[in-house]
Amino acid sequence: MIYLNGKFMPIEEAFIPVLDRGFIFGDGVYEVIPVYSRKPFRLAEHLIRLQHSLDGIRLKNPCSNDEWRNILEQIIANNDGEDQYLYLHITRGVAKRDHAFPANVSPTVFIMSNPLPQPPEELLKTGASAITANDNRWIRCDVKAISLLPNVLLRQLAVDRHALETILIRNQFLTEGAASNIFIVKDKVLLAPPKSNLMLPGITYDVVLELAAANQIPHEIREISETETRMADEILLTSSTKEIMPITLLDNHPVGDGKPGELFRQLHALYQEYKATHMRGQVV
Ligand code: PDD
Repeated sequence: MIYLNGKFMPIEEAFIPVLDRGFIFGDGVYEVIPVYSRKPFRLAEHLIRLQHSLDGIRLKNPCSNDEWRNILEQIIANNDGEDQYLYLHITRGVAKRDHAFPANVSPTVFIMSNPLPQPPEELLKTGASAITANDNRWIRCDVKAISLLPNVLLRQLAVDRHALETILIRNQFLTEGAASNIFIVKDKVLLAPPKSNLMLPGITYDVVLELAAANQIPHEIREISETETRMADEILLTSSTKEIMPITLLDNHPVGDGKPGELFRQLHALYQEYKATHMRGQVV
C-alpha cells in the first residue's frame, strides 16, 4: 500500500498526470528512511533534512511533523516486513509546462515502502569494490533533489565495472559516493569530509560520527584529498539502505591490506548495537 496525495492505495492504482513537474522538470525532493522492527530510524533527523531540502527548492512543507509521523506509521503498518525502507517524494505539483513556479498549485506527495535488504554477509566479510569519477553534479548536493541524472550516470559507471559504488572527486578532493557518504581511515584516525553544499548530509554519516565520539575513536572532520583517499588504510561507505560497508578495492587497487579493517569492524558492531537500542525503543 502506498500513499498518494492524501489517499492510501495499492501501487497498481497510483497514477500521476504527465504534467507533474517531477516528471517534466525533476522539480522535487525526497527522503529515504529505514525502518527497523517497524520503527522508523532517526525520523526526527530525516524530517529536519526534508525541511532543508524543501527550503532549498522554495517549496512549502505540505505536512507538519506530526502529520508525517502519522502517515508514515500507517504506511509501515500496512506493509509487510519488520525492516522496511520508506521512500517519500514531494514535487511542485501539476501545471502547464513553464520553468517558473506555478501559482496556487498543490504539491504531489508520494510515499512507498519496500523491504529493507540486509547488507550481504559476504560483502561485509570481503569488502566491496568502488571506482572513482569526477564529481560533475550541481553545487547544491546538500539538497536531496529527485533530479538524480548525474548520480544515475555516475552509479552506472560502477555497475559497468562490476563495482558497488562510484566515489566522487571534485577539484582533487573527496566529496561522497553517487548514493552514499564516504569516510577514510589513516593511521587509526577516522576522517570524514565536512558537510557543505557539495555533499548530502547523510543521516548515517551523523550516526557514525556520534558513535566514534561516544566510543573514543579518534576522528577528524576535514577536507580529504584524492591522494589521501587513494592512500587510505580503510575506506567506509555509509547510507540508510547499506548501513556501513567496507570498500576494499578502489579502481582495482587494494585499499590498505585489501581486507575490511579494524575501524570498520568496530564501527559496524557499534552500529548494530545502536540499531538494537533503537528497536527496543530506547532511542527515538
Ligand atoms: N541515498 N549521499 C548521497 C548522494 C545519497 O544519495 C545518500 C543516500 C547518502 C547517504 O545518506 P543517508 O545516510 O541519509 O542515507 C549520501 C539514498 C539511500 C537513496 O537515494 O536511495
